Amino acid sequence: MTMKSLSFLAVLSLLALALPLAISSDPSPLQDFCIGVNTPANGVFVNGKFCKDPKLATADDFFFSGLQNARPVANAVGSNVTAVNVNNLPGLNTLGISLVRIDYGVQGQNPPHTHPRATEILVLQEGTLFVGFVSSNGDGNRLFTKTLKQGDAFVFPEGLIHFQFNVGRSPAVAFAALSSQNPGVVTIANTVFGSNPPINPNVLARAFQLDAKVIMDLQNKF
Ligand SMILES: *[C@@H]1O[C@H](CO)[C@@H](O)[C@H](O)[C@H]1NC(C)=O
Repeated sequence: MTMKSLSFLAVLSLLALALPLAISSDPSPLQDFCIGVNTPANGVFVNGKFCKDPKLATADDFFFSGLQNARPVANAVGSNVTAVNVNNLPGLNTLGISLVRIDYGVQGQNPPHTHPRATEILVLQEGTLFVGFVSSNGDGNRLFTKTLKQGDAFVFPEGLIHFQFNVGRSPAVAFAALSSQNPGVVTIANTVFGSNPPINPNVLARAFQLDAKVIMDLQNKF
């Protein structure tokens, strides 16, 4: 073997080692299904949650009802997210997927947030939405936006900060699929200004290049 092919092999094996680290989505299921239950009664332990004994599975374990109605949006941001994930649809356990319905009032928004464990694909069922995400620092924090009409879809890549804003004259409703049974949500304003306990205002004042008084005002709001 020449030096060249040896170093090629070395690079290949390094890549093979690095690959599992780079893939951070949910792992593939190890069996047909693993209905999440909170106690070991009638269950077997597979990962994170106990799995219900597959022989005891029923159609109801894979079923959720309640996405047909608009949710109230009379809150500070003018939207309401209804999540269907492993916590209310236990059959999703280990399957790497979940769902949300989002209702937006006129001028309502789903404020900037990220999902630490999922890519999201959104389809607009009703209304007009201005949507966007920002790429990471290494990519130059580029903003990608689009105005969606009924039937349009948009994807928010895993971990990136994104938002939706209802720019239409009527309420809007969207559905989105997320590539995790439990995507998690980090709403930027709530996380940064509403942490418990609060982050030292001097830290945030320097980080955001604002007066500490402005920071404390923001912290009071969240
Ligand atoms: C969203 O709708 C639910 C169900 O009607 C309601 O209980 C909840 O308070 C609403 N959330 C917000 C943030 O308005």
